[in-house]
Amino acid sequence: MNNTLDLVAYGPVIPVIVIDRLEDAVPIAQALVDGGVRVLEVTLRTPVALHCMEAIARAVPGAVLGAGTVRSVADAQAAKNAGCVFAVSPGYTSQIGNACREIGLPLLPGTATGSEVMQANADGYHFLKFFPATQAGGIPMLKALAGPFTDVVFCPTGGITLATAPQFLALPNVKVCGGSWLTPADAVAAKDWARITQLAKEASALPRG
Ligand code: 3PG
Repeated sequence: MNNTLDLVAYGPVIPVIVIDRLEDAVPIAQALVDGGVRVLEVTLRTPVALHCMEAIARAVPGAVLGAGTVRSVADAQAAKNAGCVFAVSPGYTSQIGNACREIGLPLLPGTATGSEVMQANADGYHFLKFFPATQAGGIPMLKALAGPFTDVVFCPTGGITLATAPQFLALPNVKVCGGSWLTPADAVAAKDWARITQLAKEASALPRG
């Protein structure tokens, strides 16, 4: 994969996944892939995250594996070493944008304001995460950003659910959205992989505008 915009072709939703136990990594990833969701964002929020990425990269060939919560150049390099083919950052700095380009790791950078969008654009990034989407203005904000930023495509993430995703996906400047609702903590605790597959099927069937 050369460009994060390629991710759009796989489906309308990118699951944001927090994995606390290494043993859950492969079953979670396989359950999502079985439900038709192949692009997976595993967040760097737990001590086992990098090991989870390695395990998924090895055992779930259908997954297009990315690292979320990439906050530093070291995070980006570690994610790439663990087998990730893209990175997602919660915010944007030129340092992270340039570093990801240098190591050949496509980046979906987080933005929430016009200034952040402009900085990412100046560094060559036009497919951007809008985070935290609901809290930062939601659909009215995305509509407002469409005015000046006619060449920017967003992946809103944060506070989105199966019920609200269609409203985001209907916007012309949104091609995909992210969320953690596909991997509920109670389903993971119960090892209810069938439920995660079902949630993935519902997410992959969501219409886009
Ligand atoms: C995150 O980075 O935590 C994502 O935005 C997920 O947010 P959500 O849990 O509200 O879906």
